[in-house]
Amino acid sequence: MNAALLAVSRLCAGYGERPAVADVSFSLRAGEILCLVGESGCGKTTLLRSLLCAPEARWLSGEITLGDTALSGLSENARQSLCSQRLGVVFQTPEAAFNPIRSYRRQFIETLKSHRRYDPAAFERQVARAFSKVELRDWRRVLDACPYALSGGMNQRVALALSMLLGQDILLCDEPTSALDATIQLSVAQALQRLRDASGVAQIIVTHNLALAGFLADRVGVMYAGHLVELGATGDVLRHPLHPYTRSLIEAVPGLDGALPTGLPGSPPLSGPRQRGCEFMDRCPRARADCAARTYALAQVEEDHFATCDAGKEVGP
Ligand SMILES: Nc1ncnc2c1ncn2[C@@H]1O[C@H](COP(=O)(O)OP(=O)(O)OP(=O)(O)O)[C@@H](O)[C@H]1O
Ligand SMILES: [Mg+2]
Repeated sequence: MNAALLAVSRLCAGYGERPAVADVSFSLRAGEILCLVGESGCGKTTLLRSLLCAPEARWLSGEITLGDTALSGLSENARQSLCSQRLGVVFQTPEAAFNPIRSYRRQFIETLKSHRRYDPAAFERQVARAFSKVELRDWRRVLDACPYALSGGMNQRVALALSMLLGQDILLCDEPTSALDATIQLSVAQALQRLRDASGVAQIIVTHNLALAGFLADRVGVMYAGHLVELGATGDVLRHPLHPYTRSLIEAVPGLDGALPTGLPGSPPLSGPRQRGCEFMDRCPRARADCAARTYALAQVEEDHFATCDAGKEVGP
């Protein structure tokens, strides 16, 4: 088993004093792809922001360890500098990261300089190599184009290539394929996979697309109301879910056969994570009388398969 590149322990983070993510613990191994799923407002983006040490998502308690370094022991500046050295980020739309009317060449040079990684003699060779790894052909034309002139799928692959040039070994992707059509989604997913296979880049990918998670992820984490409620190998979580929320989420996906999905009535609570009792209780088809009183913590239920509740487990034949 690979050592953890990134370890998160009992992390609470949010906006102001109110946590939007509570008690989240997991680790990411070298070269691993972890997909995070869950409905809107469950805290997925907030979790990524807190891992990036973004100032808007306040870190309230818990620990993040990058390699051997516990981030709580660093000054704010040192923490942000280490995070930007090690962690790359890809957003849903490239406009969030790039200036749409400046050429990639200029933006790459500026970013590489700010990371002290710009070598004018090697620059074009390095770009050509990075672009070929994410299947961007005609590298010179892409490098001299502005983001607005390229398709969404190409822009996402440029963002992946930049992260490679920066030498970042962990990539955080927030819905990287949601704005793309199905075939382009597949090409970006394949570029993410190639990045892992060829360069060993570990990834945390937030997605609403369970099929994409099934295709890409080694492990899947399910978030609900700011908590990580299930975590395990992709096949275990998606085919043999433990938590009733995971089961409901899977059953809510429409198939191609026109059959109506079971659905998931209601929506996640807006009040943020609770200290006690299960947040999913009011929507849970398997709720019991004692759910309001229990304290929920992620626990190992099966080998390498963790959940805060296992009432969603298949009932025998
Ligand atoms: N900048 C912000 N300031 C204050 N509250 C915020 C901010 N961003 C998110 N929140 C709140 O934090 C909670 C978690 O939101 P977050 O954006 O992390 O969810 P998400 O799982 O990424 O949702 P989505 O799938 O819609 O992107 C929500 O209650 C949201 O309203
Ligand atoms: Mg989000």
